[in-house]
Amino acid sequence: MNKRIVVLAGDGIGSEITAEAVKVLQALQVQWALDLVIESGLIGGAAYEATGTPLPEQTLALAQAADAILLGAVGGPKWEGLEIHLRPEKGLLGIRSALGLFANLRPAILYPQLVEASTLKPELVADLDLMIVRELTGGIYFGQPRGIRCLEGGEREGFNTLVYRESEIRRIARVAFTIAMKRNRRVCSIDKANVLEASELWREVVAEEAKEFPEVKLSHMYVDNAAMQLVRAPKQFDVILTTNMFGDILSDCAAMLTGSIGMLPSASLDEKGKGMYEPIHGSAPDIAGQGVANPLATILSVAMMLRYSLHEPDHALRLEKAVGTVLDQGLRTADIYAPGTVRVSTKEMGDAVVTALKD
Ligand code: IPM
Ligand code: MG
Repeated sequence: MNKRIVVLAGDGIGSEITAEAVKVLQALQVQWALDLVIESGLIGGAAYEATGTPLPEQTLALAQAADAILLGAVGGPKWEGLEIHLRPEKGLLGIRSALGLFANLRPAILYPQLVEASTLKPELVADLDLMIVRELTGGIYFGQPRGIRCLEGGEREGFNTLVYRESEIRRIARVAFTIAMKRNRRVCSIDKANVLEASELWREVVAEEAKEFPEVKLSHMYVDNAAMQLVRAPKQFDVILTTNMFGDILSDCAAMLTGSIGMLPSASLDEKGKGMYEPIHGSAPDIAGQGVANPLATILSVAMMLRYSLHEPDHALRLEKAVGTVLDQGLRTADIYAPGTVRVSTKEMGDAVVTALKD
């Protein structure tokens, strides 16, 4: 039976990097006889330009009907002045929420070939393999009320609400514990329970849920300390479980441990395992259109798609191996370039992965 994949390129480098990932998907179709139907839709600033909204109904309908979604990136300076509900980011947040993609998996794995590309000392990051499990459809990103209001006397006040229901905490905790069972069985839950009630409940519910997973060792850490520990001794972590906003911040930090944010994929899953797959980096408007962006995070997102939504774990491994092969060959986009390696364009990197898949 065929699987429907919707590609939402978005803005900035989105179209360049998703083009390479689609090339890889097409190669998989031919080589491993995967029966895929690849469609495309608009999201973000590109959708706003074409339709007046960052998340058109048609895109949502396509995504709802699909087995998996591949997303490039959204946003850019062009749309920064828009009202918040029309901004490209609202398209991304809207699709995450509408599809119930509450579980965001952000692995930070250091390819041994890139140990020198990290800004941290090699011995601190060598063999790094951690998984951030970020809650994606709740917390302060979505809490009500929110807005900017005018106080008496005319001063303006911006406000947001940090809110977490028990059931939301429980289901994301379960995802983290289940993943930990397949890894090194350690979960570090990150919160700000010394200050925030929402975090106090988070900590309590995570600890309750841990009882269902007696083989997993649970620890808790405050987010400020976690930020420090991530750059001090990142290998102490196996699975990090955290909220929407803390996960947003800590995953960028973790990305740099691996040398470049251009290497890190992500999966956002619903209760049934349907998913949206995207690189964790943004639309990089400063380099858009130049053909220099690193497509590997998007290609590795396809590997996650193979694993979590298409149930093809062997193919996922093969694709990850092909990425290893091109790095072994010394091929590097600008973000991971080092003297002695070969600088390649976005397209050349995509082509090299397709070639490596044939080996
Ligand atoms: C991410 C991004 C998004 C987020 C933005 C673009 C809305 O930073 O996926 O990490 O904050 O979740
Ligand atoms: Mg982010």
